Amino acid sequence: MKVITASTAGFCFGVKRAVDLAKQAAADNEHGVLTYGPLIHNASVIADLEKRNIRAVDPEDDAPSDSEENTILIRAHGVGRETERQLKESYGKVVDATCPFVKKIHQIVAEESEKGWTIIIIGSPNHPEVIGISGWTNGDYYVVENVSDAEKLPFFGDQRVCVVAQTTFRFNKFQELVEIIKEKAYNVSAKNTICNATEERQTEAAELALQVDAMLILGDKGSSNSRKLYDICRGLCPCTCFLQTADDLDLEALSTVERVGITAGASTPHTIIEEVQKKCQ
Ligand code: F3S
Repeated sequence: MKVITASTAGFCFGVKRAVDLAKQAAADNEHGVLTYGPLIHNASVIADLEKRNIRAVDPEDDAPSDSEENTILIRAHGVGRETERQLKESYGKVVDATCPFVKKIHQIVAEESEKGWTIIIIGSPNHPEVIGISGWTNGDYYVVENVSDAEKLPFFGDQRVCVVAQTTFRFNKFQELVEIIKEKAYNVSAKNTICNATEERQTEAAELALQVDAMLILGDKGSSNSRKLYDICRGLCPCTCFLQTADDLDLEALSTVERVGITAGASTPHTIIEEVQKKCQ
């Protein structure tokens, strides 16, 4: 069986950086590290991190009573200005693992709203990244997720409007929404802040699915980007399977397959990818 693994499979740059920073911080602090919300949506990675004394705290909960001895890590999604301030006040040390691409959006939003621009964030209103971005605005802001939200926006006229996007938002949808916003305001500065990592992973997965007899998608059940990869590949290659770990691999089912493609969501560690590769080979 020929096994082809997508070069974009697994952790994106921002997630890898956050996991590495957490491991380093845990090695430096005998009390371990708390992460402000789960670092990643992958049960096996979470279990591995817990063994290294890296545990998630629920952002809804108050800081633990011994928090001054603890290091808290801000995950790749980032947080708003006020949350960052509270974390600095409550914990002994704050490690900021906000992805630099997300940090850039915080900067844009802070600078432009300081100059009086109205901010429109294109993204999902409940996503932690969007909540974090909104926390860097100084004045009015709106969150727009779909056409209906965009159409409900007020008429801004001459008011300057700056548009940014959640990093994982789809480019075509972003363009469509910007066009609607431009009908509501004469002065719109639309910044394409979408990160290419997701799109590149999806494009490569689709190309690979067309070349193989079977596709294996590795990811956690709770990972929406892994499910998305599954949907894309399933439409192009009927024999597409979703695996959480190498144990889910049914080699019998693949016995007649000559070429198998492997890709993985942004939260899947390389150890799982390697295990599946080896098992297939
Ligand atoms: Fe950063 Fe892009 Fe990953 S924004 S967290 S590198 S998907």
